[in-house]
Amino acid sequence: MTIIESVAEMQRFAREARTAGKTIALVPTMGYLHEGHASLMREGRKRGDVLVASIFVNPTQFGPSEDLDAYPRDLARDTAVASVAGVDVIFAPKAGDMYPTGFQTYVNAEELTLPLCGASRPGHFRGVTTVVTKLFNIVMPHVALFGKKDFQQLAVIRRMVADLNMDIEIIGMPIVREDDGLAMSSRNAYLQPEERQNALCLYRALVTARGLFNGGERSVKILSERVVRLIGEVPAASIDYAEFRDMGTLEAVETADEGTLLALAVRIGKTRLIDNCILGEEN
Ligand code: PAF
Repeated sequence: MTIIESVAEMQRFAREARTAGKTIALVPTMGYLHEGHASLMREGRKRGDVLVASIFVNPTQFGPSEDLDAYPRDLARDTAVASVAGVDVIFAPKAGDMYPTGFQTYVNAEELTLPLCGASRPGHFRGVTTVVTKLFNIVMPHVALFGKKDFQQLAVIRRMVADLNMDIEIIGMPIVREDDGLAMSSRNAYLQPEERQNALCLYRALVTARGLFNGGERSVKILSERVVRLIGEVPAASIDYAEFRDMGTLEAVETADEGTLLALAVRIGKTRLIDNCILGEEN
């Protein structure tokens, strides 16, 4: 496995791979890799002749009061995880190489970025779409893989790829959970043991809503009340949002249906966690 830090070198590598007729698969990450990332990499391994994982804690997707400096980083450990998952190249650029002095061009998707995480993290998705576009231009992948835990991010990236005619196949991969249901996330590293227990309220809320839905409940008002009450039973949890939305448009719905997205963002202490499920589906 090779580690490439320079943007120019990564582009050279990608150009040569393409000229040699190779298919490039990309797994974009911010590092501190866990089993969720590894599952994307294993799928990427099957889909590409060359598998690239990018590791870059992207400053433009963090707000001024967010956890950019504290975001967990461990390149040595990430290298080991990526290597076991079959990655050929880790692309780990420096912020100054990605955003040199004078940088001023951003990519912005509109409606899909307004609700949910876009409402509580202004500018976040502009940072995501900008860095993902840059990664696509640098790594030149034929296929790129993203996790469905960041459901809105995946929807925004799919929209951007369609709107800007990017010739890249986007694969959404299932959420990977710990044995007790907690969705894997690099931010779980912030949780103290008691918070780790409290964080299970997100999964409990999803399972409860899904159970009610499977039992025939369709009223979003009733489903919402149950979700909010259940999370409210954990004093350390504060809800950023708990919303039932159309999985395509992300518009709010009043009646739940097969394919309705239940999206949660909940603070456990200082840590903001997100999770979701699609009603009528298993994961
Ligand atoms: O999901 C993430 O880890 C990041 O938002 C991404 C897609 C790597 C862009 O920085």
